[in-house]
Amino acid sequence: MKEIILFPFGGNAKEAITVIEAINMKTKAWEVLGFIDDNPDLNGKKYSGYKVIGGREILSECPSAKVLAVPGRPENYFKRKKIIDSLGVSSERFATLIHPASNVSPSTKTGYNTLVMAGVVTTINVCIGNHCVILPNSVISHDVIIDDYNLIGSNVSVSGSVRIEKLCYIGTGSKIIQEVTVSQGSLIGMGTIVLSSTEPNSVVVGNPGRTIRKVQ
Ligand SMILES: CC(C)(COP(=O)(O)OP(=O)(O)OC[C@H]1O[C@@H](n2cnc3c(N)ncnc32)[C@H](O)[C@@H]1OP(=O)(O)O)[C@@H](O)C(=O)NCCC(=O)NCCS
Repeated sequence: MKEIILFPFGGNAKEAITVIEAINMKTKAWEVLGFIDDNPDLNGKKYSGYKVIGGREILSECPSAKVLAVPGRPENYFKRKKIIDSLGVSSERFATLIHPASNVSPSTKTGYNTLVMAGVVTTINVCIGNHCVILPNSVISHDVIIDDYNLIGSNVSVSGSVRIEKLCYIGTGSKIIQEVTVSQGSLIGMGTIVLSSTEPNSVVVGNPGRTIRKVQ
């Protein structure tokens, strides 16, 4: 079994436990050492049988453990790269976790430090970059490219040949029409229908999607 450390003590890392447990039900592959977090007040906190075991110092104290680093809420999604890069973890040390109850096609290329949750479907010729999270039941259609540092919420439909550039956050239940580009740094609000390409760093909401502001 390989040891794994989850960072930070947040929603995505907590949900990653469901993926690890489902993988372990089939083959005992992972031993979760615990969560690490920058907030020392969380040290020792227990969650679903797993503990916050410390801060970043644990990365050097447990050098053979793999790492899944999945920060990112709608409020700070654009800092994902900065936060993950600041851990100084090498690409080989990151884990990639794919839920056994997803349907990721064999033609899908998946990067490192990427988490794919239950019920996700990728059809053909899909590329998912490094440091991405795809939450449950989202459908990623043919020829979609998801660049690095993206978070795709649950129940999202990404139509064929869409490109999602780096550092976007695609809110729960959004739908993106075929062949558009979601430009770098975009935040797509919950339930948005994206009918055209977005400008970089824009917050887009509604049906049809409209830009309400730019991310600073
Ligand atoms: C878009 C979002 C980030 C809010 O951004 P914001 O800049 O703080 O926007 P505000 O809440 O000030 O709302 C601004 C306007 O947009 C509207 N709006 C906000 N979110 C919306 C959404 N998802 N769909 C439709 N309209 C929305 C508001 O009603 C408001 O309209 P008004 O000006 O006519 O009153 C948030 O609503 C959202 O959708 N977050 C994603 C949530 C999500 O997917 N969570 C998953 C957790 S895993």
